[in-house]
Amino acid sequence: MAKPKTLYSCTECGGQSPKWQGQCSHCHAWNTLVETVAEPVTASSNRFSTLAGVAAERGVVQSLSKVRAEDVPRKPTGISEFDRVLGGGLVEGGVVLIGGDPGIGKSTLLLQALASISNTNSVLYVSGEESPQQIAMRAKRLSLDSHDVKLLAEIELEKILNVVAAEKPQVAVIDSIQTVYSAALTSAPGSVAQVRECAAHLTRMAKSSGTTLILVGHVTKEGALAGPRVLEHMVDTVLYFEGDTHSSFRLIRAVKNRFGAVNEIGVFAMTEKGLREVTNPSAIFLSQHDTNVSGSCVMVTQEGSRPLLVEIQALVDDSHGMNPKRLSVGLEQNRLAMLLAVLHRHGGLAVFDQDVFINAVGGVRIDEPGADLAVLLAIVSSFKNKPLPAKHVVFGEIGLAGEVRPVQRGQERLREAAKLGFTHAIVPKANKPKHKIEGMEVIGVDRVEQAVEYCRG
Ligand code: TYD
Ligand code: MG
Repeated sequence: MAKPKTLYSCTECGGQSPKWQGQCSHCHAWNTLVETVAEPVTASSNRFSTLAGVAAERGVVQSLSKVRAEDVPRKPTGISEFDRVLGGGLVEGGVVLIGGDPGIGKSTLLLQALASISNTNSVLYVSGEESPQQIAMRAKRLSLDSHDVKLLAEIELEKILNVVAAEKPQVAVIDSIQTVYSAALTSAPGSVAQVRECAAHLTRMAKSSGTTLILVGHVTKEGALAGPRVLEHMVDTVLYFEGDTHSSFRLIRAVKNRFGAVNEIGVFAMTEKGLREVTNPSAIFLSQHDTNVSGSCVMVTQEGSRPLLVEIQALVDDSHGMNPKRLSVGLEQNRLAMLLAVLHRHGGLAVFDQDVFINAVGGVRIDEPGADLAVLLAIVSSFKNKPLPAKHVVFGEIGLAGEVRPVQRGQERLREAAKLGFTHAIVPKANKPKHKIEGMEVIGVDRVEQAVEYCRG
C-alpha cells in the first residue's frame, strides 16, 4: 500500500502547505501548522459548497431586488434566555456551534432544550461522550419529559449520517464534534482534519435536509474552540458558554450569528435541577458588602440589548518582586497596563512598585472599553485604601490623552442603575442625559483628573 501523503494544515485558517514551517503562508499565524494526512479529493474537498445556503438557488445569477427576502421561521426552544442568544430560536437547516469549558453545562442545557422542543419537533441527541444510561440518569435528575427524545451513542460519522438520514430529525445535537471521526480518513479522531471534515459533512447534511444541527465543541485553555478556526466559519451561529465553574451563574454569548444580533447574552444559574433562566440578571454580578470597601467600583455594562451592573474589584499592594504583578480576571490584561500608564501620567498616581490585581465579580467577562473608568477608580480606591462614595455607578472609556470618552446607550445604563437603587453616576460628560433621571444625580467628567478628584471628595 502506498504511504499516505502527509500535509500540514493551519489550525487557524485551515490553509495547507506541503512542508512544515513556523508560519502559515496563508494567514501568517505562527506555530499553527499541524501534520495531517492528505485526503483523496472527494466532493467534500469543495468545502465552500456547504456554505452557500439553499442548494437550488446556487449558481444562478439573479438581481438582488428580485430575491424574495422573507424572515426565517424560528423554532423557539422554550428556554427564553437560550432563544435570546439564538436571535429568537432555532432556524431550519441552521447550524449552531456551542463552545465552553468542560463541566460548564453544555450537555445539560442541550438536554433541557431538546426535551422542551421534542413536544413539537422530532429530535435526536447523538452523544459520543456519555452512555445512554448516564444521559437517562441526567434526564431523570432534571425531571425532564424525555419521552420523545431519541438517543444515539455513536462516534462514527458515517453511522451518524445514516441514522440521521433514516430518522430525519428536525433538530439534532452532536455532543461533541471532537469525538466524531470519519472512517474514510486515516488521521486520528480529534485531529484537525477529522474535526473539519466531520463538521463539513454534518453541515452539508443539515443544509440539504433542513435539519437544525447543534454541534458541541470543546474549548482549549486559551478559550478558543479546539480544532480549526474554520469550524467557526462553517456554521451559522457560534455561542460560547462563560462563567466561573465555582459560581453558579453561566452566561451564553453569541459571537457570530447569521440570523440575529451578536453580543447578545443569555444568563442562567446552575441549580440541582439543571440550568434555570435568570430573566432579570442586572444585579447578579454585585457582591453584597455590608459596608463600603476600598477597591470596589460598580459599573454598568451593556450586553446586547441589556444593561448589566457588574462590580469591578481592584487590589493594589506593595510588590516584593523585581517585576510587579499585573493580573486581570474577566477584563483585558493589555488594557490594564494602558490604564496604569494613563493613571500615572494624568492622575499623578505611580504604581510601578505595586502589584495590581483586577477582577470582574461573578466570572463575567467584559470586553468593552466602557469599563475603563470603573477599573481606574477601583485602582485609585484600593491604592488610597479609601472606599468610593456609596451608591455610585461608573462607566466611560479612557483615551491615552486622559480624556473620558462617551459609550453607547448611556441613558439606558443610567436608568437601569437608578432602578436598582443607585443614586449617583460618574459618566462621560457626553453621556449626561438632557432630562433628569428620577432619583439619579449624574456627574459628567471629560478628564480622568476630574473623576479622581471627585472621588477624593
Ligand atoms: P455538563 O452539562 O455535563 O457540562 P459539559 O457538557 O459542558 O461538559 O455539566 C455538568 C456539571 O453541571 C457538573 O459539574 C454537575 C453540574 N450539574 C448541576 O449542578 N446540576 C444539574 O442538575 C446537572 C445535570 C449538572
Ligand atoms: Mg458534556
